Parts: sequence; C-alpha cells; structure tokens
Amino acid sequence: MTEEISKIGFIKELCATADNMYRLGWDERNGGNISYLIPEAEVKQHFDCSKVLRTIPLGFDAKELVGKYFLVTGTGKYFKNVKEDPENNLGLIRIAKDGVSAELIWGYSDGGKFTSELPAHLMSHITRLKVDPENRVVMHTHPTNLLAMTYVHELNTKTFTHTLWEMCTECIVVFPDGVEVLPWMLCGTNEIGEATAEKMNLSRVVVWSLHGVYGAGKSLDETFGLIETVEKAAQIYMLTAHLPRINTIKDEEMLQLVKRFGVQYRKDFLNVK
Ligand code: 13P
Ligand code: ZN
Repeated sequence: MTEEISKIGFIKELCATADNMYRLGWDERNGGNISYLIPEAEVKQHFDCSKVLRTIPLGFDAKELVGKYFLVTGTGKYFKNVKEDPENNLGLIRIAKDGVSAELIWGYSDGGKFTSELPAHLMSHITRLKVDPENRVVMHTHPTNLLAMTYVHELNTKTFTHTLWEMCTECIVVFPDGVEVLPWMLCGTNEIGEATAEKMNLSRVVVWSLHGVYGAGKSLDETFGLIETVEKAAQIYMLTAHLPRINTIKDEEMLQLVKRFGVQYRKDFLNVK
C-alpha cells in the first residue's frame, strides 16, 4: 500500500472492513463484494476526476445513479488481499452520463473490473436511496452459519426472520425490518439484481439461499454490524437446532423490546395482538 493511498479515509475504511470479513471466514477465495458510495466533494479532495482511465460497460441501466462515485471491490479478487494492494483489488468508478457504463477514475490496476455482482449492488443502491437518502453501502458476503441455516430452515421470509429474532435478545432491535429471503437464483445476473433490489424495499438484509447475504446501510460499520448480528443469530440457531428447545424468547417479550427501543418492526412477523 503506497503512503498516499493508505491515508485516504474511505479507502482505509474499506480495506479494514474487507479484512474483518475475511478474518471471520465469511469471504473465502473471491467470495463477497462491497460497493461504497462516496460523495463527489470527498472524491475530488484526493483524485483528479477529469481523468478517466477506462470506460467499462455495465450491462444494465443505472441512469438513476449518473454522476455518482462508488468504491467497488474487483471481480475475482480476494478480500484477503485488499488491504495489501487496494489499487489492484479495488476501483473507484463514476456512473457515466449514458447510464450504462462506468468511468474508472482509480484502481483495477491489473486491467480488471468491478464485481460480477454489480447489478445487485447498484440496483440495491437505487432502491435504498429512495427509502433512506443517507444509504451509502451495499455489502455481499457468505457468512458461514447463515448459509448453513438456508440448508435446514424453511425459506420463508416471515418464519426465517422470526427464528432469527428468537436467537438473541437484541436481534429485533438491530434488524426490525427482518430479513427477506430469495430462493436459489443464478448469481451475477441482472435477474438476481432486480429481485434483490425489490426485496430491499422492505428490508436492509436479503438472504440469497444456499449462497450468502446482502446488507445495506449508511456506513461500512453499520452494514457490517447488521450482517454480523444476523450471522450471530444464525450461529445460535445452528448450535441449538438439533437439541430440544427448553427456553425461548417469546413474542410478548419481543414486543416489550420494540416498545422500549422505539423501533418500527414488521408487525405481521410477530404473533401478538
Ligand atoms: P466477484 O468475484 O465477481 O465479486 O464474485 C464473488 C461472489 O461472491 C459472487 O457472488
Ligand atoms: Zn457471492
């Protein structure tokens, strides 16, 4: 990592996040990808945005994001290596005026390009920015226990969310909007991107059954923490699912939590009056 690049806040932050995700075993090989919306003024403090290194076709329409800058992990790149060599493993792109291509401002130094999951990322950004104008992060990863849970639990948004909420007291407070569950779909396609973005209208977490998860949030920390909490709940489930359940958090108790913390939750997911 060269001295100058290592000082740039948003690059340093993304490197640290990828490193943490790798350390937790969520991102084997090239598994996982992150996109981080960077305000133009912040980009211009560090980069000459009039110089475009390359123009790369998107393969879908992202005209709602024209002129926006994203720091995005590269396709085929390992999270394990991001911190050591951000210039090769990351890229800073701007959505071009035509809405169907990206202008590379920095990165992908070996001639590579953005993640194959860019459709799901940018389509999710479009959805989340409408729900919350402060949304800046979309994160995809393969958390071990959550992935395992999709092999043994019914793939239904309501029951899957309810099971996760039961696993740790604070789950319903951290993800009151629950988790939306998609069936197995072919990854890297516009179709899975569209399906993910549609689910993002309802929840900041979308489970890709038998594959991984998508999370969205205002910051890298918040989005990481969201997925971390879902994964922790899935871990408790996987540690206990095969054992007789003697105790559980009751729906009435979850209701006390949402009232105490004042969060808007998916009311139809609890069986209380
Ligand atoms: P990329 O290497 O293209 O980012 O793909 C990794 C992945 O997790 C696909 O779902
Ligand atoms: Zn994946």
